[in-house]
Amino acid sequence: MLTFPDKKEITTEEIQKALDFSSEQVIRNLDIFTDSFQKAYSENGFYQPIPNNYWTTGFWTGEIWLAYEHTGDNRLKDAGERQIDSFLERINKKIEVDHHDMGFLYSPSCVAGYKLIGSKKGREAAIKAADQLITRFHPVGEFIQAWGPMDAPENYRLIIDCLLNLPLLYWAFEETGEEKYKEIADKHIHTALANVIREDYSTWHTFFFDMKTGAPDHGATCQGYRDGSAWARGQAWGVYGTALAYKYTHRDSYLPIFKNVCEYFLTHLPEDMVPYWDLEFTDGSNEPRDSSSASIAACGMLEMAKYLEKEDAVHYTRIAKQIMKSVYENYAVKDEKQSNGLVLHSTYSNHSPYNTCNHYGVDECNSWGDYFYMEALTRLIKDWRLYW
Ligand code: GLY
Repeated sequence: MLTFPDKKEITTEEIQKALDFSSEQVIRNLDIFTDSFQKAYSENGFYQPIPNNYWTTGFWTGEIWLAYEHTGDNRLKDAGERQIDSFLERINKKIEVDHHDMGFLYSPSCVAGYKLIGSKKGREAAIKAADQLITRFHPVGEFIQAWGPMDAPENYRLIIDCLLNLPLLYWAFEETGEEKYKEIADKHIHTALANVIREDYSTWHTFFFDMKTGAPDHGATCQGYRDGSAWARGQAWGVYGTALAYKYTHRDSYLPIFKNVCEYFLTHLPEDMVPYWDLEFTDGSNEPRDSSSASIAACGMLEMAKYLEKEDAVHYTRIAKQIMKSVYENYAVKDEKQSNGLVLHSTYSNHSPYNTCNHYGVDECNSWGDYFYMEALTRLIKDWRLYW
């Protein structure tokens, strides 16, 4: 296993300082972002408000809950509850919910609010979101379709990111006792892990199937540099997604998958342990970073450390602390005049000669980068009851 003997680990004092500043930053933002949400990415370092109509809005509410856990400040609790009202309205009115991102939306917002303060509205909204999510399950291919109309062959595909949407289904199963949620999640994980991971343990972003037979067809790396490369965030979703898959299924075959997907991520890190937006790139490339991938992968390693033998658990915890040291020192916002976000130098969607992506949020903060930064730090200072 790859180790980084010359890298320092983040200290408890630094974690405390980072969470103090992050929580203060979240509180400063409440004036604007209580009845609105942060846009997916900042522009010149500053987020603009949007209504609750995009796949990313749950991360901002998740930051509010993490800041509430850190401070106990009731302004945060009140804001979190107001945002849950918005999520309940969104699922009741079915506003922009015809896609698979129900977990990204409803786990850090509504499941979190239910777990932390017993929000009944949060529970109701999250179960409705789980019901919405299972409408996207294809019984022939045995996967949840990411986006697009369900009857279109060109959309008959899953994406690696979806592994983070499945904890919502396991939570709904635990809450209601209804097996359908767990059965669909189990099947999706099986199909996803059997297909999105390449022989060298790099990952496809997205994988297509034959609509008639359900047979695997081909992979594509939609948000990465090119089809054959490893999109950094896709690989990070793979690290965290496999850890969560193991948490909920305890299938032994997922352990080596986690280790190998993680190893691929780690062997492709640049000197400061924060990846460029595609793992094809490294130091000297002049390409933008995706700092969010670093925090996402660290969260996955810290989750998996709970289930591993001591030596492996110590190994992954150490690497997570080394990564977070770099994110904190080199990427985190330290002055509110510089940005109203938490972590700079992330990349949402970058155009390349080989992809069809728009140039959105390149070298900016993004909402999930901020959220997973706080989650990783929170995991490092307490026995955190996860929202996923
Ligand atoms: N789930 C979409 C993304 O990571 O950009």
